[in-house]
Amino acid sequence: MKRKIKNNVYWVGYIDWELKTFHGDDYSVNHGSSQNAYLIREEKTVLIDTVWKPHSEEFVKNLESEINLNEIDFIVANHGEIDHSGALPLLLEKIPDVPIYCTANCVKSLVGQYHHPEWNFKVVKTGDSVDIGNGKKLIFVEMRMLHWPDSMATYLTHDNILFSNDAFGQHFAVEELYADKADPCLLWYEAMKYYANILNPFSPLVKKKIDEIISLNLPIDIIATSHGCIWRDNPLQIVNKYYEWSKDYQENQITIAYDTMWEGTMKLAHKIGEEITKLSPDTTVKIFNISKFDKNDIMTEVFKSKAIAVGSPTVGGDILSSVGGWLDFLKELKFKNKKAAVFGCYGWSGENTKILRERLQKAGFSVVEPEIKCNWNPRLEDFKKAEDVAKALLGL
Ligand code: FEO
Repeated sequence: MKRKIKNNVYWVGYIDWELKTFHGDDYSVNHGSSQNAYLIREEKTVLIDTVWKPHSEEFVKNLESEINLNEIDFIVANHGEIDHSGALPLLLEKIPDVPIYCTANCVKSLVGQYHHPEWNFKVVKTGDSVDIGNGKKLIFVEMRMLHWPDSMATYLTHDNILFSNDAFGQHFAVEELYADKADPCLLWYEAMKYYANILNPFSPLVKKKIDEIISLNLPIDIIATSHGCIWRDNPLQIVNKYYEWSKDYQENQITIAYDTMWEGTMKLAHKIGEEITKLSPDTTVKIFNISKFDKNDIMTEVFKSKAIAVGSPTVGGDILSSVGGWLDFLKELKFKNKKAAVFGCYGWSGENTKILRERLQKAGFSVVEPEIKCNWNPRLEDFKKAEDVAKALLGL
C-alpha cells in the first residue's frame, strides 16, 4: 500500500520485520529493516528504486493496485544492489521498454546481475536532471563508493526531497516510517551500526561527498533513505552525524575483545578492564567474547572506541580461528587513529601475542608495547601487567 510522504510523493516499499541477517549472514539485523521505494506522481510518474527479490511479487502487485504500470514514465535506479533492484526483472517483464535512469556503473552492475543488456538504460551523472512536470525536476548526484561504485542520490526540486538510497539509512523497521516516530536509542544505535559496518571503510569519501552536497546549496526538507527511517524533522541531523562519524570518530571508550579456551585469556580481559576503570573511571569499558557476541555489534563498539585490546590463547602455533576471522573483518572496516593492545595465554609455543600484534598493525591500529603473554593460567605477576597495558591504552 502506498503511503504519502509529501505532495505527490509516496512510499511504496517493504517493511521487513522478519529479516535477521543482511549481505548473506554478514550483517546481523536485530530490529527489522525495510527496503524503501518511492513513487512520484507529477505530470510524469516516476518510480525510485524497488525492493529485494523475495518481496518483488508483492511489490509489483501493490504497485498495480495503485497505478497502471504503463503509466510509469521512467524508473530511477539509485543503486544496483539486489535489495533495491530485485524487483526490476519482474517489473520489466510487464513494462519492458520503460527507461531506467542510473549511473554508468549501475548499468554494469544491473546487466551483470540480471543479464538484460537490452533494458532501456539512460545513463546520468552528477548535475544531470530530468523534468517531471509541474515545474519540478529530478537532479542526480553520483555517490561513488557510498557504498558501491554505482551508488547515486536523486534530489526532487520544490518538494526538496533527497532520495539518498543507502546513505543515512539503517537496518531498522519503523512502521510509521519516520525517524521522529522511532525509539531514538534504537534508531541512533542502528544508524551508527550501519555506518560502522558498511560505510566506515569509505569515510574519506563520505566527508568529501557531504561537502559537495552542501556546496550545491539545495534546500533539503526530507531525506528519504532506502533502509529504515525517513528523516523529516531536522533532516540534516543525520548528515551532521555522518560528517562527525567520517572524521576518525571516537568516544572515551575502550573495548576489549577476546576468545578463550580454558578461561585464562578471559581472566586477563577482565583484569585489563578493571585496571582501565581504576585508572580512568570516566572511560567506558566494554568486554566481549568474540565467539559469544555478535560481530557487527562488537564492531559498532570498536567504532566508538579510542583504543581496543584483543586477546587469544595460542592454539596450533596460531591464534583461535574465531579471533582470526574477527581480525579479518576488523581490517576490512579500515578504522583509523585507534590504539590497540594484545594479550593471551599459552601452554608451550606462545605465538599468540606476536600474531595478534602483526594482525592489528595490518588492520591500521597503533599497537602499544605493553602486553600480557601468560604461560598456562594467569598468576599474580601476569595480572600485574594489566596496569601497564591499561596505562598505555589510556595514554598515561
Ligand atoms: Fe541497500 Fe547497498 O544496498
